[in-house]
Amino acid sequence: MNFLTLVYAALKVLTATPSESTISKVIPPHESTWTYDGKGNGINDWYQLYPKCKGQFQSPINIDTRLVDYNSSMKIDFIGFQKLYQAFIENNGHTVQLGVEESTKPVLTGSAVDNKIYVFAQLHFHWGTDSLLGSEHSINSTFYPLEGHLAFYRKEYESFDKALNYSDGLVVVSIFFKHADEENHALDRLIKGIQKIPRYRDKSLIPGFFNFSDILPSNLNNFYKYSGSLTTPPCLEIVTWLIIAEPVNISEGQTEIFRHERANMISSKTGEYAYLNHNYREQSPLNHRRVTASFMVNSNTDQNEYIA
Ligand SMILES: *[C@@H]1O[C@H](CO)[C@@H](O)[C@H](O)[C@H]1NC(C)=O
Ligand SMILES: *[C@@H]1O[C@H](CO)[C@@H](O)[C@H](O)[C@H]1NC(C)=O
Ligand SMILES: *[C@@H]1O[C@H](CO)[C@@H](O)[C@H](O)[C@H]1NC(C)=O
Ligand SMILES: *[C@@H]1O[C@H](CO)[C@@H](O)[C@H](O)[C@H]1NC(C)=O
Ligand SMILES: *[C@@H]1O[C@H](CO)[C@@H](O)[C@H](O)[C@H]1NC(C)=O
Repeated sequence: MNFLTLVYAALKVLTATPSESTISKVIPPHESTWTYDGKGNGINDWYQLYPKCKGQFQSPINIDTRLVDYNSSMKIDFIGFQKLYQAFIENNGHTVQLGVEESTKPVLTGSAVDNKIYVFAQLHFHWGTDSLLGSEHSINSTFYPLEGHLAFYRKEYESFDKALNYSDGLVVVSIFFKHADEENHALDRLIKGIQKIPRYRDKSLIPGFFNFSDILPSNLNNFYKYSGSLTTPPCLEIVTWLIIAEPVNISEGQTEIFRHERANMISSKTGEYAYLNHNYREQSPLNHRRVTASFMVNSNTDQNEYIA
């Protein structure tokens, strides 16, 4: 039986705003075929259409800093991130995703990625219903309310889609956002852009120009690295993850704007698209992978140190 044709009664009571019931049915098959909450095509069923989602080296993970190796010679160079770009942002039913119009994109290189060149493809976000959850990765089992993913493909492979065929095809830089009392006005343009795309498939230009520095922390030298997967279907295990340690401030009110986006699922209660108020994937075990840090993570160091 084709699950896409069924109407589902997956009920989950959400305590935080927006407090709409998520009883939902899956939208028709010509549209997006996976969801976070839908029954039959929600997180636990992704593997049915995308077998890799059951792989051994999946993302996200928890980073237990006691188990992290130290390698001081890992460096990342961010090139073209201080320039201004004309950026657009889109609600794709799973997240809000930002791209740049210019043909010359920002790039990433450095010893942490074997000095290969990776070209910026898109930036998207993961969040949750309340401030205790939302990020996909966690440090010492502590989650952040929001996590941004800057996705890059290896230049040699010419495009994002072609790079998906290679084990070193993608690099994703992860940025954590942490709740602070004050609004972070550097995020104003991004947030204004998000407010313009509340519905599934809405797309808009970011007002003015976009400066990546506005959404990056000041310290980009301290990061964790491990090998994993896309955290959404097709869950391909081709991602070098670079997780920046220092979080960026955001206010609860600013995070709330993300929670008012609509998903690619119809709520049977309202007959409208359901709120996309959480879009993080559950974590996977490390399974013998090692996480490396570019800095001394623990105060009292019983850490393995690699001398490069
Ligand atoms: C982008 O922002 C950074 C950090 O605030 C700043 O140093 C840089 O000058 C900005 N770029 C432009 C072109 O305004
Ligand atoms: C440390 O990092 C450098 C740069 O990424 C790499 O060349 C080297 O192999 C790493 N050392 C170990 C022991 O993994
Ligand atoms: C990936 O590789 C397969 C087999 O080599 C090829 O058929 C396919 O066209 C490639 N896909 C892309 C997007 O390059
Ligand atoms: C982030 O917010 C905290 C207070 O919550 C403040 O101490 C800190 O200076 C802020 N960081 C930046 C970069 O503004
Ligand atoms: C994680 O825990 C270790 C020791 O258990 C501690 O030294 C370290 O500061 C913690 N790091 C973070 C970011 O919570």
